[in-house]
Amino acid sequence: MDIGIEKIGFYTPKQYIDIVELAQARNQDPDKFTIGIGQDKQAVPAVYEDAVTMAAEASNQILDSDNKSDIGLVIVGTESSVDESKAAALYLTELLNLPENVRAFEIKEACYGATAGLQMAKNFVAAHPDKKALVVASDIARYGINTPGEVTQGAGSVAMLISSEPKVLKLTDQTVYMSRNVGDFWRPTFSKTAFARGKFSNQIYIEFFETLWARYQKEFGATADDFKAMLYHIPYTKMGAKAMRTLDGKISAEKYAQLQTEYQASIKFGREVGNLYTGSLYLGLISYLLNSDVKPDDNLLLFSYGSGAVGELYSAEVVDGFKDNINVQAIKSVIDDREKISISDYEKIFSDSIEDGQSVDPETVTGKFYLKEIKENERLYSAK
Ligand code: HMG
Repeated sequence: MDIGIEKIGFYTPKQYIDIVELAQARNQDPDKFTIGIGQDKQAVPAVYEDAVTMAAEASNQILDSDNKSDIGLVIVGTESSVDESKAAALYLTELLNLPENVRAFEIKEACYGATAGLQMAKNFVAAHPDKKALVVASDIARYGINTPGEVTQGAGSVAMLISSEPKVLKLTDQTVYMSRNVGDFWRPTFSKTAFARGKFSNQIYIEFFETLWARYQKEFGATADDFKAMLYHIPYTKMGAKAMRTLDGKISAEKYAQLQTEYQASIKFGREVGNLYTGSLYLGLISYLLNSDVKPDDNLLLFSYGSGAVGELYSAEVVDGFKDNINVQAIKSVIDDREKISISDYEKIFSDSIEDGQSVDPETVTGKFYLKEIKENERLYSAK
């Protein structure tokens, strides 16, 4: 039985900052940010947006009354939890009018959460071929004003419908993974911003990729020539390129050059948005599918990395007609129809929050789903 992604949707907030303006405000050479880090724009979530509202926006792009009734599992992968106890997936079931006969929960393991969800969804569909699973990656990447990580912030959500009718991507059974307790990046429960040992985190990311690639080749007798493209978790677009550099000299120069070309197609959207944390690999997948010359039956290798750390390297096959099953127009307009804001406005938004007893004027909301109010310390959401 084939299992994989039947539909995939994407949402990012309606406002962004220009990375050159950020560099100027931080007295940095803009080339460091645009070339050294590899970003152009950074998404800025509104005060009423969070992991729940963004997940609802991305999911809404791929759900309809037919497929909703087939869903038996709802997983939200996030490290931007809105509650220490209640799962973001539960708010989602209500906002999206999903049936009650579903298992709905949240997974946390930094940027690996959605991949954990995807593999769990694959097993779920294998056991229940007539059911579908909704897996949503949703995060706000935050390091703080004037920190080295600030240029790698971002926000957004990717929603995937996993089923036995994969119309976009078939997941193979070829996967290798590893876990190790590492202090490269963490966010204690008291903090809204992450702590990172930046250069160390880059090193661990690369080490995990090299280890898993060696293991993948050995276990499945694979070579780079088996893959049309290698897609990476993209915290900033230079990062995947750094991991790919480890292949230079180990594979033919021709193949290496081709993989680099494919990589450029996979980072096009990431340059515009920034780090989505657990959604980044999957935004890279969307970007690749929509901006490359990839063909049905082409094989892709996907590298998922979540600090802390878990890595997984797995393969997938592109399905005939994949573009007809992605709402290209909706995704393009999510990226193109945004408003640039100044660095000082971004700094104001950064420190803004909705407190207990406060509510949001729906007139100020640009999307469909929003945090309506916090009442008795409970977050209450609404759809426009
Ligand atoms: P930094 O110290 O400000 O930057 O922090 P740098 O000095 O390392 O410079 C960055 C690059 O710009 C270098 O290139 C410079 O040479 C280049 P590289 O050596 O890396 O190829 N550069 C220039 N290029 C052109 N013109 C110039 C110029 N100047 C310098 N004028 C760092 C960079 C990424 C460490 C920082 O932003 C950070 O801490 N980010 C957050 C952590 C992070 O993203 N880590 C990635 C791996 S871990 C991961 O992916 C997981 C994660 O997503 C979290 C999760 O799992 O939940 C983060």
